[in-house]
Amino acid sequence: MKLSKDHIVLQKQNAALEAVKHVHDGFIVGLGSGSTAAFAIEALGERMKIEGIKIMGIPSSYQAFQVAIDNGIPITTLEEHPVIDVTIDGADQLTPELYLIKGGGAALAREKIVAFASKLNVIIADLGKKVAFLGANDQFIPVEVMPFALSPVKRKLAEMGGMLTVREAKGKLGPIITDNGNALVDVVFGEVKNPAELNVSLKMIPGVAETGLFVGLTDVAYVGSVNSVEKFVVERKQFYF
Ligand code: A5P
Repeated sequence: MKLSKDHIVLQKQNAALEAVKHVHDGFIVGLGSGSTAAFAIEALGERMKIEGIKIMGIPSSYQAFQVAIDNGIPITTLEEHPVIDVTIDGADQLTPELYLIKGGGAALAREKIVAFASKLNVIIADLGKKVAFLGANDQFIPVEVMPFALSPVKRKLAEMGGMLTVREAKGKLGPIITDNGNALVDVVFGEVKNPAELNVSLKMIPGVAETGLFVGLTDVAYVGSVNSVEKFVVERKQFYF
């Protein structure tokens, strides 16, 4: 059954409303990017107004920064607060192990840095994002690449069996430029059997700044339906620490 746009919005909002319950007075909150994370940022702004809680946000993109400002959330930085209490972010795909593909909104590098700095990572998504394995339905994996390295990186990604597209900008001719001044290559590998291994292989290519594979970073996920929210909890794996 194909769901209407309104149903998907409701799923995202329901997931966001559960996730913001992890935020308490005085928290430093990592603010994710994308349409689902934006609902969480809005809900946090509401909680500040209604309950009077005081929080500060660390945005993972220019978009998240704007939504935070629009909703009255004071901004801080990783320099001032290197440890984040909780981050709430969206995902393009998530598996039962809470492995993710992120970066549909080109914010993957900062999203991963913010997640890495967080004591608790909460992912929120609509039902369509839940998959049995990463790469299902030929979902692409975004790879952020330093412009100088674009050609050799593309050659290597093709050699690894990937189908590549350099992401084009909207409203500007040519490739998109990320918040870090880099290009993005969207790569389809098909079913990703070992996301941790693929992530490391990609990151070993000189010029690759970051990948959209998030492995062992997520603690909790809320997947929204129209009338309910499913909660997933995993033990965070020590891939990074
Ligand atoms: C941004 O780069 C992404 O990682 C988003 O979090 C992801 O694409 C999910 O976006 P939506 O919530 O808009 O589907």
